Amino acid sequence: MNDRKARLGFFASHGGSNFEAIAKACHAGQVHADPTVLIYNNPNAKVKERAASLNVAAFCMNASKFESLDDLDSRIIQVLSEHEVDLVILAGYMKKIGPKVLFTYSGRILNIHPALLPKYGGKGMYGMKVHEQVVHDREQESGATIHVVTKDYDEGPILAQGKVAVVDSDSAESLAKKVLLVEHQLYPSTIQAVISGEVRLPEPGDQLLRERLSRS
Ligand code: GRF
Repeated sequence: MNDRKARLGFFASHGGSNFEAIAKACHAGQVHADPTVLIYNNPNAKVKERAASLNVAAFCMNASKFESLDDLDSRIIQVLSEHEVDLVILAGYMKKIGPKVLFTYSGRILNIHPALLPKYGGKGMYGMKVHEQVVHDREQESGATIHVVTKDYDEGPILAQGKVAVVDSDSAESLAKKVLLVEHQLYPSTIQAVISGEVRLPEPGDQLLRERLSRS
């Protein structure tokens, strides 16, 4: 592989266990990428401590710090651009991505959802609510989905899914733990597959990513 490492920019809101799993996979050489910058919106998020211990630059950015959502969107673009981010990784980010970031990184923003989309996705379907509904519906399987982000919640093209069995004794909490373990494997491996070209992003994302990675 002659291409340079991909530069990853992360967005997260809370714990950041996916951020950590991906950053460690990069440091271990399993993902040909550098975790470059983290943007988080919640000042108390545990993810900021994880970023500090993994030596990843972190910026707390949210609407309260800017005059408008448009200003926030512009400043986020500036931070991503200053860090020369190639691929944006949403890892438990609870805010909507602004239109400028969506446009600039069209086809190059990935998200992870803790269910087998298109089931259990869309507005209001996040965190434990997803697992509660899956258990309530007595589904026999659930899992995690990696998809490309578009303007509609959880509707972009699906890149990969990992499944877990749901058993009668499962609670939403026990299911969440099982799914999170799958996420920690699935997210790094899918990012690596995107970087290597084994999994293609929707255009113009894929071509832009290839062009950027082939520059020295
Ligand atoms: C994960 O379950 C992910 O699927 C969802 O938010 C959660 C984030 O967990 N989008 P963590 O912050 O990475 O621990």
